[in-house]
Amino acid sequence: MFTHQHSLRHLLRPVHYTDRDVFDKEIECLFRPAWQFVAAKSELPRDGDFLTLELFGVPLLIRNSNGQFLAYENICCHRHCLLTSADSGNQPTLRCQYHGWEYNDSGQTARIPEARCFRPWDRQNSQLNMFPVESCGDLLFVRLSHEGPTLREWLTPFFDETEQAFSTPTSKMTHVWDYDCECNWKVPVENTLESYHVTALHQNFFGDTLPAEESMNHDLQDGYTALTVTATSKMEFAQARLNRWLGGKPTLEYRHRHIHPNLVLVSTDTINYALMYVPTSPRTVKIRMRFFAVRGLKRGPIASAISWLAWKYAKAKTLEVHNEDRGVYAPQQRGLEASRHTGVIGSREGRIYAFQRYLLKHLGLPVPDDPADAGLHSDEATAADSVRDNPAENGGESSSAP
Ligand code: FES
Ligand SMILES: [Fe+2]
Repeated sequence: MFTHQHSLRHLLRPVHYTDRDVFDKEIECLFRPAWQFVAAKSELPRDGDFLTLELFGVPLLIRNSNGQFLAYENICCHRHCLLTSADSGNQPTLRCQYHGWEYNDSGQTARIPEARCFRPWDRQNSQLNMFPVESCGDLLFVRLSHEGPTLREWLTPFFDETEQAFSTPTSKMTHVWDYDCECNWKVPVENTLESYHVTALHQNFFGDTLPAEESMNHDLQDGYTALTVTATSKMEFAQARLNRWLGGKPTLEYRHRHIHPNLVLVSTDTINYALMYVPTSPRTVKIRMRFFAVRGLKRGPIASAISWLAWKYAKAKTLEVHNEDRGVYAPQQRGLEASRHTGVIGSREGRIYAFQRYLLKHLGLPVPDDPADAGLHSDEATAADSVRDNPAENGGESSSAP
């Protein structure tokens, strides 16, 4: 069931999706203290494997050193060059591409060509900046701030569920998809938080009927919101049977978790995926996705073939739906740039309301009373009434529509 049974105020204003000061505050207050999903451990299987990425203006290098995963700022202590410009690769030692300075696992200088030229040695300037790294199942996380909750605390109450969904051998990372979008990071996040758009945008997959409220359970908290949908369709029951046949433990659920601010975890009986929304400017975002096929424990050519076919189908459908979503990000951003509306949120979109409350609170901006406690407030009634008064703005529905 939905948490709210009435329309809700759109707490963010269009300026929150365009403004540089808001963006800078988000990075400082929301993103730096939060764990950031950077890769799957299985992307770095061998000693010396590394990958690079940029998080909020910080170039990072993530490296497997004898099975230990370490995160460095990808900037050399000598004269500031990126240690490597490669997206990924394997290097037996951590070595700068420019003059060949080498570093040990702790980020301290290990070998410097013609070291005598640097006497007396500046010890304070011989240490790479490093960041905390933790993992949950196959998912690898980095935190830019040195202070903060453990990963288990941050993912609570979903740590165990996530570990189970994203761990070998029952699931395996099978697809990587990183892409850039011309919109504020909150545009795709809010898109993924509501099912209201599915009949308009994903008619091919969902048909003409919105998912029934009775099958959907919303859990709205300050640190996260969660949607759990119990299986109702023949297709979902078939997926669960397949999962059981493969030796898995089907949940008969679609689980969608949004850990604030920017991590989304989705698990089903045939496909699991993790999404990270990485803001790159007030009007651009990089979306990092890692897909996991649910494989179960059964092995052999028949089990492998069936599991592969199920994965191919689930992946194709998931990518199709995500590509349809991508198509509205830029148009919504364009509207936000010029809009004079306040916007409004329906009860089916209640997770967006909870997300916006979280944003205001953690950005130090005024947060209205929770309508779940106090009923519909006058200002919310004003916004809602303006929609009800004009059926054309309400999709032509009657004024008595909830
Ligand atoms: S800048 Fe890295 S070794 Fe010179
Ligand atoms: Fe969608």
